[in-house]
Amino acid sequence: MITFDKVIKKFPLGNIALEDISFTIEDKEFVFIVGPSGAGKTTILKLISRELTPNSGTIIVDEFDLSQKKFPQLEKLRRKIGIIFQDFKILIDKNVFENIALALEIFPLTKKKIKEEVKKSLSLVGLTNKEQLFPLQLSAGELQRVAIARAIVGNRKIILADEPTGNLDPKTSWEIMKIFKKIESEKTIIFATHNIDIVNSLKKRVIVLKKGKLVKDLRKGKYEI
Ligand SMILES: Nc1ncnc2c1ncn2[C@@H]1O[C@H](COP(=O)(O)OP(=O)(O)OP(=O)(O)O)[C@@H](O)[C@H]1O
Ligand SMILES: [Mg+2]
Repeated sequence: MITFDKVIKKFPLGNIALEDISFTIEDKEFVFIVGPSGAGKTTILKLISRELTPNSGTIIVDEFDLSQKKFPQLEKLRRKIGIIFQDFKILIDKNVFENIALALEIFPLTKKKIKEEVKKSLSLVGLTNKEQLFPLQLSAGELQRVAIARAIVGNRKIILADEPTGNLDPKTSWEIMKIFKKIESEKTIIFATHNIDIVNSLKKRVIVLKKGKLVKDLRKGKYEI
């Protein structure tokens, strides 16, 4: 479970990125986060992965209290969380297999087990025969599949997706959504997006942000800003 209670995030120059944000996300929920540019979507995702810490308020992710000043359990938290970005962030000098295997470095696994895990997640995203290829040999849609495989590998239960279809054409975006649909029954998915069609078709929970405030939290929602 993920809980934000009265979370405030300010940046050094005085920008308020999030103002008094509270919500709870249950295990295996699928939640869209929408809102205009600068509304605070990415900031929420970065607080959940503890790339950022709040100025005040409480953030709980399962057994971890991320709002504590000292947080020695960061590696354990990262074993739970996979992140997918708009621009894929795949390492250009590593092949597909290596890119995914890197995400398992923080797990105490044997080489044999790493191989098994990487193959399992590649199969889930439909890239079984591409593990030796390098990023420059892949299409944008394939790169995003690699990123999804990297996010889920190691049986990670929380997936943070920051505009994952933002650089993809509509057809490829829907192919990527099919993979999210495939994994959604096993994962908590928090999906920041500007893609109106995707939000309106999936009819999931929608959290709407505006200028750092949570203005709506809709069940089976529509894209509203
Ligand atoms: N590192 C930073 N330093 C200063 N201000 C920041 C920083 N990161 C974000 N902000 C500010 O916080 C606010 C929220 O930014 P955030 O990136 O969360 O928005 P967003 O909803 O993800 O926008 P977009 O749709 O453009 O990705 C913005 O006003 C932004 O300028
Ligand atoms: Mg953003």
